[in-house]
Amino acid sequence: MKKYITTPIYYINDVPHIGHAYTTIAADVLARYYRDKLGNKNVFFLTGTDEHGAKIAEAAKKAGKAPKEFVDALVPKFEVTWKNLDIAYDEFFRTTNPVHEKLVQEVILKLKDKGYLEKRSYEGLYCVGCERYYKPEELVDGKCPDHKLEPVKQKEDNYFLLLTKIAKDFDLEGKIEADEFQILPKTRKNEIISKLKLGLEDVSISRVNVSWGIPFPGDEAQTIYVWVDALLNYYTATKIYNRESFWPADLHIMAKDILWFHGVIWPCICLAIGIDLPKQVFAHGFFTVGGEKMSKTVGNVIDPNIWVKKYGADAVRYYLLTAFLFGEDGDVSEGKLKDKYNNELGNELGNLLNRVISMTKNYLGFSSCKENNEKLAKIKEETKLKIDIKKINSLIEELKFKEALEEIWKIVHLANEFIEQEKPWELNKDQSKKERLEYVLVNLTRAINGINMAISPFLSETSRKIESQLKTLKPEPLFPRIDDGK
Ligand code: MSP
Repeated sequence: MKKYITTPIYYINDVPHIGHAYTTIAADVLARYYRDKLGNKNVFFLTGTDEHGAKIAEAAKKAGKAPKEFVDALVPKFEVTWKNLDIAYDEFFRTTNPVHEKLVQEVILKLKDKGYLEKRSYEGLYCVGCERYYKPEELVDGKCPDHKLEPVKQKEDNYFLLLTKIAKDFDLEGKIEADEFQILPKTRKNEIISKLKLGLEDVSISRVNVSWGIPFPGDEAQTIYVWVDALLNYYTATKIYNRESFWPADLHIMAKDILWFHGVIWPCICLAIGIDLPKQVFAHGFFTVGGEKMSKTVGNVIDPNIWVKKYGADAVRYYLLTAFLFGEDGDVSEGKLKDKYNNELGNELGNLLNRVISMTKNYLGFSSCKENNEKLAKIKEETKLKIDIKKINSLIEELKFKEALEEIWKIVHLANEFIEQEKPWELNKDQSKKERLEYVLVNLTRAINGINMAISPFLSETSRKIESQLKTLKPEPLFPRIDDGK
């Protein structure tokens, strides 16, 4: 079995923020989980940047740079951020890759061949921020609901992708309905189906006024619409990186803002050019910061690198995935991150490890994991401290990250309670209770081993630290308290 998992390719001129981090962390957890399960070579985890379009050309001009020079300089911002967050993607995709550009042009020719393209004159209200036309009724006070700017009237002769015809020819609705192309969560699937029932509109997939894009084959005056260019990354990547056997993608993860593109336009393109449909699209929720949407104008955009610097990658990963259910909307703040850092990570997990290692060393006189391992083989298992790995695995496979971590933390709590109940420091005072003391401590080590195995796709650095501390029995704080005074 193989798994091909993607994040969206992010607009390169936005600095990577915690919204992007959220999607990417989720994809990384899945990729790590499946690498353990299926082997490294059977997993392909793709992320990257979306680098064409009017917005980027404008920004490059402002910066006094040629577009390509401009985007080249921005890529490291993403690469560094992902490294800081301990994201282990397999390839980093860029839409300016020349092979991609060529393949996208081939797709356009194929669409034309199959009769799914048509040149039409179009006049509409265009938002450069969104790179799309709006219908008047979609605007809020005459402005784009996202960018709060008045879209400009634009008239063009464009090539249209005949979405209506494709959806009908291939029964897109039926395929979504039957989960042949699965949209998750279910509520999102229902939204897409109701929208489809209201009727589709053909979509313009070329631009006259956007020179920073892939040239439209056969029409020099036009470039290919950025969204078609961008969506195709998922497919062209399999050719560019010699991973053809990974198509169709198993899972595209993103937030609900771009579900229409992934849930309708993308499958229509795949169907029209005759490639298999991706298996699953998961749209998670949007988060706000202090109750407000994150935006440059509000000035509340959070750079994940700053959080990582202060709390470490694993704390940020843990916090974002446990802040609210994956799929729902929620609010995040540094205060809540700090709480989780100090309590769930520091007090609950960190202290558990610390106490168990110290007591094993001091009371049992063990000096390495060897003695622990020997005892582990002999001492009966304390079942209440047993991690339900099957349950956790299926939660991860269902993208229920918060629930999976809570399931793991149940054992963290039980292990801490077990220490309080058994009071090893008292057992240690009484020679006749030596056997019980061994039973308690060896089972606590066993519990930590289980916890460690379960957290590894989420918190891989912590997991490595735990492993090495258990090996040497040298306790060191996993999440040292943060002193705000400094
Ligand atoms: N370039 C397109 C995607 C093309 S994919 C073929 C794009 N890029 S984006 O930079 O705007 O990224 C959008 C994605 O960023 C969302 O779908 C989501 O994954 C993530 N998020 C951005 N802001 C977010 C929140 N406030 N909350 C959660 N996720 C968010 O759209």
